[in-house]
Amino acid sequence: MDSILVTGNGPLNGAIPIAGAKNACLTLMPATLLSEEPLTLTNAPRLSDIRTMTSLLQSLGAEVTALQDGKVLAMSSHAIDNHTAHYDIVRKMRASILVLGPLLARDGHAVVSLPGGCAIGARPVDLHLKALEAMGAELDLRDGYVHAKAPGGRLHGGVVDFPLVSVGATENALLAATLAKGTTVLKNAAREPEIIDLAECLIRMGAQIEGHGTSTVTIQGVERLNGATHPVVTDRIELGTYMLAPAICGGEVELLGGRRNLLEAFCQTLEQAGVEVTDTDTGLKVTHKAGRVKAVDVVTEPFPGFPTDLQAQMMALMCTADGVATLEEKIFENRFMHAPELMRMGAQIDLQGGTAKVTGVDRLKGAPVMATDLRASVSLILAGLAAEGETRVSRVYHLDRGYEHVVRKLSSVGAKIERIKES
Ligand code: UD1
Repeated sequence: MDSILVTGNGPLNGAIPIAGAKNACLTLMPATLLSEEPLTLTNAPRLSDIRTMTSLLQSLGAEVTALQDGKVLAMSSHAIDNHTAHYDIVRKMRASILVLGPLLARDGHAVVSLPGGCAIGARPVDLHLKALEAMGAELDLRDGYVHAKAPGGRLHGGVVDFPLVSVGATENALLAATLAKGTTVLKNAAREPEIIDLAECLIRMGAQIEGHGTSTVTIQGVERLNGATHPVVTDRIELGTYMLAPAICGGEVELLGGRRNLLEAFCQTLEQAGVEVTDTDTGLKVTHKAGRVKAVDVVTEPFPGFPTDLQAQMMALMCTADGVATLEEKIFENRFMHAPELMRMGAQIDLQGGTAKVTGVDRLKGAPVMATDLRASVSLILAGLAAEGETRVSRVYHLDRGYEHVVRKLSSVGAKIERIKES
């Protein structure tokens, strides 16, 4: 298994291009199932999760061709001949559940494996299922699979009032509602930029959607959707991650394609910590003189709050901040698995349930550490950039799920980082 070797060194300077959003692309790809005409996504990220979704869609009979080295995904679903998403694929990636709504809306039936638990908690899919039931779906859970049917072959509009904000359940419901008969109202819907991107793509395909980006989304179902070409929105989590690199070891880095409105709460937190964030014509620039940032408290929340997907990386920054920072994780239980690894590097972290109290130290020390999930792995790389000596991060397959060319991107701004290939 490959590992990544990082050697802490001086300030970083230069520019890093930010890719299209993994999480947007993973919900845009299943939209192909809603139309017999081609859907083309541009600005797609080159990641293993995208390849997993490609395999899943292909297993259903969709044609998915990666063009321009994977930056363009040309998809067509004129011949869907399989309506089962098997456990083998779903267990690799929870976002596989996002084919359920589209398959059901298109052909009135689908069988999708339940994803099971994952490293950052139980993560059930009950809200996805309740939303589809509100649209008339009949569901039968057996043998680890959801067997879903739309009576009469078509879903109907309904009111879905989510008891808690779920990105994936909002996406599944939105996808399904586009072809349902009548009007669907999603209340307490997620407002993430990836939801807005999905709605904009569906509108290009002919869907009638209003209110996306607010907590009430109204969808008027149509008879059919057409093809479209859509650019994937910028990856705000990759953006935030690389914004932390100059914050953690000093320097000035421009994040090309970055926009403040994708990450307002995160930008404010960085500024409170004493890091300068400037809007430029081409992106966002982060400037920090070498030296410790101020400790700041963080509470993760649904958008527009501080994203849970940047909590681990922010913890890496707080490990060497001046003072004591409290990080409260409100979205997922068990999302502090990076903390013991950071402690191996000399971090002082006190974990109490969903709260981590981080007392900043002068400097971290390099150590062999293990990635436990996608965002945890990149937090260890960030910590390694600022640490004294060498940090070797193992199990980097997690990283390949969500960060394209991480070594190339960080090396280009002066980081000492390399991938060690092992058989
Ligand atoms: C998505 C993102 C993930 C991010 C998360 C929160 C993708 C592919 N993944 O995940 O990177 O961390 O949003 O911003 O876009 N819940 C239920 N029942 C459900 C669904 C969710 O109880 O049916 C709970 C979850 O366990 C969690 C909370 O709701 O505690 C929010 O999860 P959700 O927004 O659904 O996350 P995902 O869509 O899985």
